Amino acid sequence: MPDSYAFSPRRAIGFDYQLPPAGRSFRIRPVTTRGKFRIGVLGSGKGSNLVAIAEACAGGQIPVEIALVLSDVPNAGILSHAQARGLPHRYLPPGPFRTKLDEAAEKAYGQALAEAGVELVVLAGFMRVLKSGFLKAFPHRIVNIHPSLLPAFQGLEAWRQALEYGVKFTGCTVHFVDEGVDTGVIIGQQVVPVLDHDTPATLHERIQQAERVLYPRVIGALAQDQIVTQGRRTVWRPEV
Ligand code: GRF
Repeated sequence: MPDSYAFSPRRAIGFDYQLPPAGRSFRIRPVTTRGKFRIGVLGSGKGSNLVAIAEACAGGQIPVEIALVLSDVPNAGILSHAQARGLPHRYLPPGPFRTKLDEAAEKAYGQALAEAGVELVVLAGFMRVLKSGFLKAFPHRIVNIHPSLLPAFQGLEAWRQALEYGVKFTGCTVHFVDEGVDTGVIIGQQVVPVLDHDTPATLHERIQQAERVLYPRVIGALAQDQIVTQGRRTVWRPEV
């Protein structure tokens, strides 16, 4: 990456983050004494996960504050939901590519998140692959939700893939984001049965209902330092 790509959310908000030595366990250590865990939510679509996370925050179920909502789609539902809830939100143009942000856009997204003091980047239906410069700026601090039990059915329309394959159970997965597509370390999963009368639409809706439970739960656990990562495995520590 060019030298100008120099924002650092760690420096900006004072993490005690360090890369874990190989083979040693790692966990997020939020600066909880300074208030709520600050997240930035990125989405391109209707925003049902944002709503679920916002309701868990507002209801006090999780000690989390949505510091910023960003979208690459100017009229996305996620921005309307953010506006309706009084959450800071912005449309940031993605540049000319269809499936990724261009370099200037990636920098703009990173800077906006760092300036908002975001400790965790939450992808909620953000339809663009994030490249290594962005990932390195937020190491171990980007999560995504995928509508299948990974590693099964990676990629688009995972619910349709599951239905067509004929599995009896599918679900959703929250994982850390790495350089692959839907390949990062798994943090949490929720199982959803496939019913005989399911269509892609009914199965998708049932998976999304599960997402709206799982995503706030995982974000709350990360905020409370309950998730320990060792290699590809994560362990949930009990609440303290
Ligand atoms: C979710 O179903 C998630 O699995 C996928 O994108 C969708 C976003 O939905 N990654 P919404 O915009 O949160 O309603």
